[in-house]
Amino acid sequence: MATDSWALAVDEQEAAAESLSNLHLKEEKIKPDANGAVVKPSANAEKTDEEEKEDRAAQSLLNKLIRSNLVDNTNQVEVLQRDPNSPLYSVKSFEELRLKPQLLQGVYAMGFNRPSKIQENALPMMLAEPPQNLIAQSQSGTGKTAAFVLAMLSRVEPADRYPQCLCLSPTYELALQTGNVIEQMGKFYPELKLAYAVRGNKLERGQKISEQIVIGTPGTVLDWCSKLKFIDPKKIKVFVLDEADVMIATQGHQDQSIRIQRMLPRNCQMLLFSATFEDSVWKFAQKVVPDPNVIKLKREEETLDTIKQYYVLCSSRDEKFQALCNLYGAITIAQAMIFCHTRKTASWLAAELSKEGHQVALLSGEMMVEQRAAVIERFREGKEKVLVTTNVCARGIDVEQVSVVINFDLPVDKDGNPDNETYLHRIGRTGRFGKRGLAVNMVDSKHSMNILNRIQEHFNKKIERLDTDDLDEIEKIAN
Ligand SMILES: Nc1ncnc2c1ncn2[C@@H]1O[C@H](COP(=O)(O)OP(=O)(O)OP(=O)(O)O)[C@@H](O)[C@H]1O
Ligand SMILES: [Mg+2]
Repeated sequence: MATDSWALAVDEQEAAAESLSNLHLKEEKIKPDANGAVVKPSANAEKTDEEEKEDRAAQSLLNKLIRSNLVDNTNQVEVLQRDPNSPLYSVKSFEELRLKPQLLQGVYAMGFNRPSKIQENALPMMLAEPPQNLIAQSQSGTGKTAAFVLAMLSRVEPADRYPQCLCLSPTYELALQTGNVIEQMGKFYPELKLAYAVRGNKLERGQKISEQIVIGTPGTVLDWCSKLKFIDPKKIKVFVLDEADVMIATQGHQDQSIRIQRMLPRNCQMLLFSATFEDSVWKFAQKVVPDPNVIKLKREEETLDTIKQYYVLCSSRDEKFQALCNLYGAITIAQAMIFCHTRKTASWLAAELSKEGHQVALLSGEMMVEQRAAVIERFREGKEKVLVTTNVCARGIDVEQVSVVINFDLPVDKDGNPDNETYLHRIGRTGRFGKRGLAVNMVDSKHSMNILNRIQEHFNKKIERLDTDDLDEIEKIAN
């Protein structure tokens, strides 16, 4: 694939910076502290996790930036076919798909040896003749993007110099990530070109674009198809809606996507992907993908079975900090993640721990996504031994080597009730990483004791009060 069309104009880069502005930090300077951790007290420090929760696009991007590998999944795939009488294919190798040689070469050049679990089922369905529509859901990192990129590249006719595949992404950054995958996989296809329909990418009026694949955000794509007429939507053969869950969390994107879909020909293949499948996503999916096949892959379940859980009774924030110091004084802890409820507490705690001589990394929602990714990367590499974070910021992040999790604040939802799901996600492990783990919960009031009891009841797993007698036992896990 030719690379000239990949170069980003300066105003596109500005647009990128702008679209990150909802991460609250654009105009403010962030400076690393002596330990390299980025600590930035800010007016936003009071923001609670709930407000951070909104930023699903940032979360999705963060996951991609720090992910090094395919997320393997051993769960069964659930397939619902539009035509239950047609045979159901799944493939165990890329050869079986009879891809064009240049494409197979591209796949192997990316280091893919065999299809991922979701790809095994989704690829034959997407490549079947006549084309079929598909709604697919599987956890982040399981290979959805790679799957539809392969489908687009298979259907495209390089000799035809007009857009044939259209892919919608929720943000500029996510579009760029997917564009990268298209570029890599299409590397041995020099005649194939890609255009970015993103804010700031200005073309001359009256122009028609010749790139065969267009990836962009709904607003700009809609303009390009209707008002500006850069794209003839009637010639689109494959329409992809990626990250549908993130899409619908963004104001306006749902309507714009539907309006684009309405302009496409009836026989256009419609494909929709999502990492989650709550009701709202499902409803949206059905609106934009007529007569779909549906593929779902359940998340692997996390359990508390291999986790030792304790609590420490304190009466204030300072006492919790003291208890934490005592713990560190008593045992050797290789690496720990510490969760706080607010950004304010997190940055206070990180500063206090630094004063005590710990190498602390702080992960906070006020940082830009790339900075967050860099912090996690450093922690992964062991450059810092303690990672202090708010809950939302670390949602969905697997730092598998961390055996110690400390809930400096217990996880609660916005109504102040125990957030069991988050508790499980913070400290649980899937069977595959079934190593032992240690969780220490800091309790500082009757109220938080009550929360702890409810969490205990929910999981029907005892959380014991930490005693000096336990230290030998927990040191074995912590180190
Ligand atoms: N068959 C495969 N073999 C090995 N690695 C793969 C395979 N398919 C995808 N990957 C790699 O796995 C990672 C995740 O893939 P991909 O981005 O397609 O997942 P996704 O399901 O789209 O995730 P998200 O929901 O975050 O967008 C990427 O680094 C990708 O290169
Ligand atoms: Mg994806």
